[in-house]
Amino acid sequence: MSEFIDLVNLVKIYKTPKGDAVIVDGFNLKMNQGEFVSIIGHSGCGKTTVLSMTAGLLEKSGGNVVVDKKEVAGPGPDRAVVFQAPNLLPWMSTLNNVMLGVNQVYPHASKKERHQICEYFLNIVGLGDSMHKMPNELSGGMQQRVGIARALALKPKMLLLDEPFGKLDSLTRMDLQDILIKILDKNQMTTMMVTHDVDEAIYLSDRIVMMTNGPAAKVGEILEIPFEKPRTRSEILEDPRYYELRGRLLSFLEEQDHKKKEFKPKAKIEKPADEPDDNSEIKKSA
Ligand SMILES: Nc1ncnc2c1ncn2[C@@H]1O[C@H](COP(=O)(O)OP(=O)(O)OP(=O)(O)O)[C@@H](O)[C@H]1O
Ligand SMILES: [Mg+2]
Repeated sequence: MSEFIDLVNLVKIYKTPKGDAVIVDGFNLKMNQGEFVSIIGHSGCGKTTVLSMTAGLLEKSGGNVVVDKKEVAGPGPDRAVVFQAPNLLPWMSTLNNVMLGVNQVYPHASKKERHQICEYFLNIVGLGDSMHKMPNELSGGMQQRVGIARALALKPKMLLLDEPFGKLDSLTRMDLQDILIKILDKNQMTTMMVTHDVDEAIYLSDRIVMMTNGPAAKVGEILEIPFEKPRTRSEILEDPRYYELRGRLLSFLEEQDHKKKEFKPKAKIEKPADEPDDNSEIKKSA
């Protein structure tokens, strides 16, 4: 497999009223074409920051993002992003929400062809019957599927997923994980996914990157997931290696938690009021 993504020494310094906050400092990661890498780490460590710099949506303070051997400076249709909330335009139908991106990526296609592209991807995520519904007529899980269809319809080389299933109930979450696996089986896309769910990370990933706590977060450890693909949940759950991997992830997070408690910053980095500052979002349930 060839190397497709190279994140070289990424640095992010946010300017705050109390001075510069070095959030990410020297984040290095190479990803092969078609590889699925999850990023896991405590809330506020800088996962979204790394993902957004990779997407080109956030300016870097240092380092390089290299995609297919070319350094990229900004966003592009080669890298599609799905966030926790799909942010659909409420005045547009499901179809037209997907069409927005398709219009940009296929400007020379006929209206009929663009319609077919949207239809194809909405069918893939199981929304063939809801194409003409408005976002407020869709459940949270259905809206998230539109977000995934919208990203896929751009025919990206890379998918960047920031807790894409974080707001969904566990059954819908499992359903969408399986849909994602099927899509990635058919379309070899290099995928980076931020998640708080260790089980989701093990089920979907080829490798899991564990980030150290901020400030100055970087790659702490990388866990290779040895299970062959395609995978089934039951096979994984029966494999004793699953419990070892899970144990390693949880103990890394616990070690980071201890370090965080020992760490007494000179200048406190402000967090938004709604951001938890403990490990409460890390899901431990199987
Ligand atoms: N625009 C900004 N200005 C200042 N600080 C910021 C800004 N955006 C993020 N931060 C800080 O950078 C740190 C990392 O934020 P980021 O959103 O990347 O964390 P995260 O790992 O994705 O967290 P979560 O798991 O809660 O989503 C946090 O401490 C956050 O408060
Ligand atoms: Mg985040």
